[in-house]
This record gives sequence, C-alpha cells and structure tokens, in this order.
Amino acid sequence: MTESWATFGADLHLELSGGRGLRAGLAEALREAARSGRLAAGTRLPSSRSLARDLGIARNTVAEAYAELVAEGWLTARQGSGTRVAERARPRRPAAAARTRRPAGRGPSYSLLPGSPDVSAFPRAAWLSATRRALAGAPDEAFGYGRDARGRIELREALAGYLARARGVYADPDRIVVCAGFAHALMLSAAVVRARRTREMAVEGYCLDIHRDLLARAGTRTRPLRVDGEGARTGDLGAGVGAVLLTPAHQFPTGAALTPARRAAAVDWAGATGGLILEDDYDGEFRYDRQPVGALQGLDPDRVLYLGTASKSLAPGLRLGWMVVPPGLVDEVLAVKGATDWTSSALEQLTLAEFITSGAYDRHVRGMRLRYRRRRDELLAALAGRVAVSGIAAGLHAVLDLPAGTERSVVQSAAWQDLAVEGLSRFRHPEADLPPRDALVVGYGTPSDSAWGPTLAALSAALP
Ligand SMILES: Cc1ncc(COP(=O)(O)O)c(C=O)c1O
Repeated sequence: MTESWATFGADLHLELSGGRGLRAGLAEALREAARSGRLAAGTRLPSSRSLARDLGIARNTVAEAYAELVAEGWLTARQGSGTRVAERARPRRPAAAARTRRPAGRGPSYSLLPGSPDVSAFPRAAWLSATRRALAGAPDEAFGYGRDARGRIELREALAGYLARARGVYADPDRIVVCAGFAHALMLSAAVVRARRTREMAVEGYCLDIHRDLLARAGTRTRPLRVDGEGARTGDLGAGVGAVLLTPAHQFPTGAALTPARRAAAVDWAGATGGLILEDDYDGEFRYDRQPVGALQGLDPDRVLYLGTASKSLAPGLRLGWMVVPPGLVDEVLAVKGATDWTSSALEQLTLAEFITSGAYDRHVRGMRLRYRRRRDELLAALAGRVAVSGIAAGLHAVLDLPAGTERSVVQSAAWQDLAVEGLSRFRHPEADLPPRDALVVGYGTPSDSAWGPTLAALSAALP
C-alpha cells in the first residue's frame, strides 16, 4: 500500500509504504523528509489528530510515530508550540558535493573578468514599475501556454522598432524570435546550420570558448579566421564553410570594429556561396567616441541572422535574447525551436517590451554608457605609459598588451592581489593561425561602482 500525504501548510508529499507496519512506515517517511531537508528544521507538523484523519489511520499510530522521532531527536514536542522538526535534523550533504562547493566568501574579492555588465546597476525600480505595468495590462491568454514559438508579439514589436532605430537592423516582428540569451540563439542557429548539411563553420580566431563548445556539441566543426586590428579577416572565408560567426560591432575579445571592407567581404562571401552569417551583437549599444557602428545585418538581411541579447545592456540573469531571422529561414528556425521550446517567461517578455516602449531601456543604456565610459577613461589614466591598451572604443572590456611571455605570471600576480582577470590566450582557438600575443582581457564593466576603485588599484599593482 502506498499513500500520498500532502496536508502540511507548506505542501509536502510524503509516501507511506505499507508492509513494515503503519507506525514504522510513517516514522521512516518523516525521518527521511527531515534527513533530506524536504522538511526544514523548525517546520511545524500537523497535529496527530489532523494527520491521522488525512491518512485515515488511528490517531495513536501517529502519536506513537511522533513520540519515536522525538525520542530519536528528529522532532521536538513542546506544550503550546506543537511538534516541530528539530534543529539538529539538518540535511546531510553528500560528501562529494560538500567538497566541490566553494565555501562562501572564498575566491578573489575583485573581478575584472570580461563578459558581465555591472549587475549592481540593474535598474530595479524601473524594471519593477515596468513589471507592474506589464502585469496590469497583460491579457489573460498571456498566462497560458504561448502559442507562438517566436515569443510575445508585444516584445517582438518593441524590439523591431528599437533595433531598426538604434542598431540599423531590418527587423520585422514576424521574423524576430525571442530566446533565452545569445547562447540559446546560437544553439538554435547551429541546429539550422546543421540541418542544411553544413558541418563546418568559421569562427573568429579569438572568441569565447563556451560558444565554440556549443557549436561542437551541435556537431559543427569550427575553423578559425585570423583576427587583426580590423576585425576578422573575412576575405579568407572560402567555400569550405557554410556559415560564419562574427562579432562585427566589437570583436570579442580583441575589441576591433569590423571595417567596412571586411563587412563587404563577409556579405560578398555569403552572396557568392549561399553561406550564412551569424552576427553576435552582444554589446553594440556601448560605443563611446563616435556613433555606434550599425549592425552588419543591415547590409544583407537575407543572409545574416542577427543575434542580440539583454545580457550586457541589462543583466545576464534575465536570460533574454532575440534573433532577427532572414525571411527564408523563419520556418527553419521555428522547426528547430519547435512547439515545446518555451524558454522565456511571458511576464519577463512583456516587461522588457514595456521597458523598451516606455523609453526606460534607452535611459538605462545611456546612463550605463556614461558610467562605463568614465571607467574606461579612469583605466586609461591609471595605466598611461605602462601598457598599451586597445579595444577601447566600445564595449565593456579592453585588452592590455603585456611583455612577451608574461601573461601567465601577470594573471597569477593579479590573483595574489585578490583580483580575478583573464589572459587573452584563454580565448584563442586551438587551431588559430595567429601571432603570439600576451595580453589581459579586462572586463571593466564587471565591478560595482563601490568596488571599482580598489579593483583598479589591484590591477595596477599586478602589472609589471
Ligand atoms: C561575445 C559574447 N557574445 C554574447 C554574449 C552574451 O551571451 P548570453 O546572451 O548568452 O548571456 C557574451 C557575454 O559574455 C559575449 O561575451
């Protein structure tokens, strides 16, 4: 006999297996719930009378099981406060998990790891009021299963307007697909590329290893393009690859903007070979010294999949991104996304739509642009005359060139200064044909404002 029990104020499903006797079965089920942490220390248990009624067993059986667990120390019984899970009944963690978990408070205090905005600057109040408005205005059907794999129409319309206005993207809401950040957009794109029987894709010789790994897992072999001060050498693209992944606005991590000639070469290659361009526009909003460089997609909307994200402009934790798909590829993207890929919450989508249409997104980006620009200028001032800094016109990171052969020791010396920082070599494709370069990729967007000063001092102390 197996009985389910779900009568606590805090919902708990408890299974009583018969055979061992009801009292022993109930005692063991309670013991297990306390041991595993499903019943937290301090939780008040139902009275023996109401539990007995729920389970359809004698009150005495419950009272005896409770008494047994009190005697063992799993429960406490006090006049007036009922029967509760004892403090000592804390869940036991498996030894392996305990070993792999980093104790709280350990690890470097300061971080200049690239890839993150200043998450302490997340616009909580503005997001909250956008959420309120989104919630108040949401139609009932928004709380059901979404019927359109492209995502909420409100967000797609808001994005179409914003991307056309701010990034020069040819965007039509019907061709926008909302997804869970760039990484998800890349996975979907990789599946589309594979479905076209393309096994090889070009990537930039310096790029994020996690993105290369995603492509490898999707069964795509990556071939590195050389990268220099003008961005990726798109003139080297040949007929052997069916797609290319580029960061045209701000090469990650070297920071170059893809020059007009190289943009043209990429588009010419796509037109001549039928290849696809995946444009990663991860931080296109953040350009400091001149107008933002428009999206490559504007040059050839039929061949470029434009992939954007809120991870830099707002926060990676939102897991919100978007694809603008060429007209001929929408069905293919939706086929791989399928009718079951509901990765983004409707409420978050409606909130972002509201955030954009109300102008809060533009305000936030403008404010953050000033903040990051100030940090960049402070970084340049602090390091003037000591190291060459490049990739500074845009984005949230810069590259600091180091004397040959010193990258590892500088990363180590930063660790001694309690500072986490990444060397450029970490981003080098293993097969890349690139000259040796020792450098740090410094994510100056990452610290909070209050940590920025000491972080910069730690960096300065770590440099040769
Ligand atoms: C080159 C690049 N592309 C995209 C992203 C954003 O990824 P996601 O939207 O999956 O958070 C990042 C974030 O670090 C990045 O560095």
